[in-house]
Amino acid sequence: MALVTVSELLQKAEEGNYAVGAFNCNNMEIVQAIIAAAEAENAPVIIQASQGAIKYAGLEWITGMAKLAAEQASVPVALHLDHGTSFEQCIKCVRAGFTSVMFDGSKLPLDENIAETNRVLAVARAVGVSVEAELGKIGGTEDDITVDEREAMMTDPQEAKEFVERTNVDALAVAIGTAHGQYKGEPKLDFERLEKIKSLVKIPIVLHGSSGVPDEAIKKAISLGVRKVNIDTNIREAFTNTMRKILDEKPNEIDPRKVLGPAREAAVEIIREKIRVFGSSGKA
Ligand code: G3H
Ligand code: 13P
Ligand code: ZN
Repeated sequence: MALVTVSELLQKAEEGNYAVGAFNCNNMEIVQAIIAAAEAENAPVIIQASQGAIKYAGLEWITGMAKLAAEQASVPVALHLDHGTSFEQCIKCVRAGFTSVMFDGSKLPLDENIAETNRVLAVARAVGVSVEAELGKIGGTEDDITVDEREAMMTDPQEAKEFVERTNVDALAVAIGTAHGQYKGEPKLDFERLEKIKSLVKIPIVLHGSSGVPDEAIKKAISLGVRKVNIDTNIREAFTNTMRKILDEKPNEIDPRKVLGPAREAAVEIIREKIRVFGSSGKA
């Protein structure tokens, strides 16, 4: 079937109280792993590409692979731009065939974030593409900041309410204690903040930096309104560690298929595990 929008998937997730997995891809093997995992779990799925992934693989290649994957898949598939940082990047992706874009204006002052999000929304809405925005700064685990600074980066619930009222965006990414990349310790999520945000904002909430967050914390966040869960680092780990293991064991191996095939399998396994945790297994 053709690519579907993220809004469509998240509306169903809202009704069913589960979350849809949004998995980052950079190459053919990861796109195939995402689809194979979703089909094995009979789950709806979001393939997402960052600006870095688009730069690496090429916009037409990412779009082409996702369209082909969706056409052949037995489950609904959406293609989403992850952390688009400019109006231009978002519109390029809309034009290329993405069914959803994220405009990440989290580094901008509130009024500018709202204005830019609305600019993207005006174009995206006209062609039936959904839009995710970000409020609060999610950041990375490598960011050298104090606990107080991390706290200051978190999403303010009242601002979230104002943001959604002034944009009517389709989904909102919030900062509640997660970060991108590998965690040094166990991340502590601010569930009270999430609950407060969800009581004021009636749209699907997106959790970024979800790799390495314990399953129970993810499930609790979903019970409090998270409907899209982003995973990149755990796929990178599974994929690259498998390649490393094979190359360590067989230093003379030169057939890329012997290295990339098992890496793809390892990615399928971790994605299947995540889909089960998110509760979207069997929801296709
Ligand atoms: O949120 C960020 C994703 O993990 C993508 O990372 O920009 O290195 O592709 P990237
Ligand atoms: P992780 O790499 O920490 O899983 O974060 C992924 C993400 O949020 C992509 O937007
Ligand atoms: Zn992210």
